[in-house]
Amino acid sequence: SSIILLRGRTLSFLRWPESIDDHAAWRYEEDGGLLIRDGRIIAAGAYAQVEKQAGEGVEKIDHRPHLLLPGFIDAHGHFPQMQVIASYGAELLDWLNKYTFPEETKFANAQHGRRIARLFLNEMVRHGTTTVAAYCSVHKASAEAFFAESHDRNMLNIAGKVMMDRNAPDGVLDTPQSGYDDSKALIAEWHGKGRQHYAITPRFAITSSPEQLEMAGALCREHPDLHMQTHLSENHAEIAFTQELYPWSRDYTDVYEHYGLLGKRSLFGHCIHLSEREADALSGSGSVAVFCPTSNLFLGSGLFDYQRYRTRDKALRIAAATDVGGGTNYSMLRTMDEGYKVIALNGEKLNPFQSFWQLTRGNAEALSVAEKVGTLDEGTDADIVVLDANATPAMRLRMETVGSLAEELFLLQTLGDDRTVREVYVAGRPAKRDMAA
Ligand code: GUN
Ligand code: FE
Repeated sequence: SSIILLRGRTLSFLRWPESIDDHAAWRYEEDGGLLIRDGRIIAAGAYAQVEKQAGEGVEKIDHRPHLLLPGFIDAHGHFPQMQVIASYGAELLDWLNKYTFPEETKFANAQHGRRIARLFLNEMVRHGTTTVAAYCSVHKASAEAFFAESHDRNMLNIAGKVMMDRNAPDGVLDTPQSGYDDSKALIAEWHGKGRQHYAITPRFAITSSPEQLEMAGALCREHPDLHMQTHLSENHAEIAFTQELYPWSRDYTDVYEHYGLLGKRSLFGHCIHLSEREADALSGSGSVAVFCPTSNLFLGSGLFDYQRYRTRDKALRIAAATDVGGGTNYSMLRTMDEGYKVIALNGEKLNPFQSFWQLTRGNAEALSVAEKVGTLDEGTDADIVVLDANATPAMRLRMETVGSLAEELFLLQTLGDDRTVREVYVAGRPAKRDMAA
């Protein structure tokens, strides 16, 4: 069994920080220690205390003066869209037809899928993200490629083969039966294998027939412990087309509701233009609304009203995500920086403790994986990111005037990116260093 002892400034959250002075919401150790055995944190706290439990011969890694946080969690991204990111000039439906669907046809080729899965998880790790809820392409082989790569790295990831059987080119279509069968086979092979989680993944209402959504609902009933992920209320043209395709529905959310797709493990990307009824339905079912700020800005989709959803009578559960390749950056720091600006446009603010809560424990709770990741609590998996607020000349200069942890976190969010990430531990293993080698 391998034991390592990390030293640094440790920060981890217990709950949502009500304000910048709500110190009881987080645990911060100026000289902190994390003792890790077989991929798990077995002791956390003041370094002097943790060191006493370490015993002889443990490998010590000193990260001072850097910050040690739980690895970031990205609640929604598309691994087959690495060569779609930065595609110019279209809103959602045109962007899908012109760039995204043609690109995803390439994933019929298993070798291509393996290459991109490897490069995608490299980018996740380089940017400090240790868990992602990922969409694969429609092709079973793309999900196999993703899970094989994720399993090799011992990452806790959530992923699924996209189900889509209409309104897209033939090269990215399945059928209700093949989508069901392929999903079943992938669940049997990958769900619960090591740290892998399967998500039932109907792309969205426009690209699924009623028969396919029926099948997706059947999968959810047959596997209540699985996640379900899809897109909801992202764009006005999308909403109008959905209403045409499902004329009986009260609204967009009602389509998914009708087929039994709402629930505590259901993740709905975007949720920008929800009516009060729709927000109530999501809230009542415990469903999660996923905030994708860089994507929502890039595709001109709209402004997610984070603070209204969070504070309304029937509050929504919220996660945050890159939505690469509609999203424009792999970094959850860049994502929360853009998120801050979107929230500012709605006349609200998100303080840096709230942001970092969202990136870690908040997303872990939203994805129902907080028992394992998203904190530095004893007994959880050792997925850890090491952040350097002095990583660039501009950051170093600004740090000269920074006098508090809150200011440092806000600087990390505002100027930080992959350069800020000094090391990443995945299940206790230094993943960034290993990847570079
Ligand atoms: N809606 C359906 N598919 C997609 C996708 O790939 N990206 C985004 N942003 N929205 C979608
Ligand atoms: Fe998406």
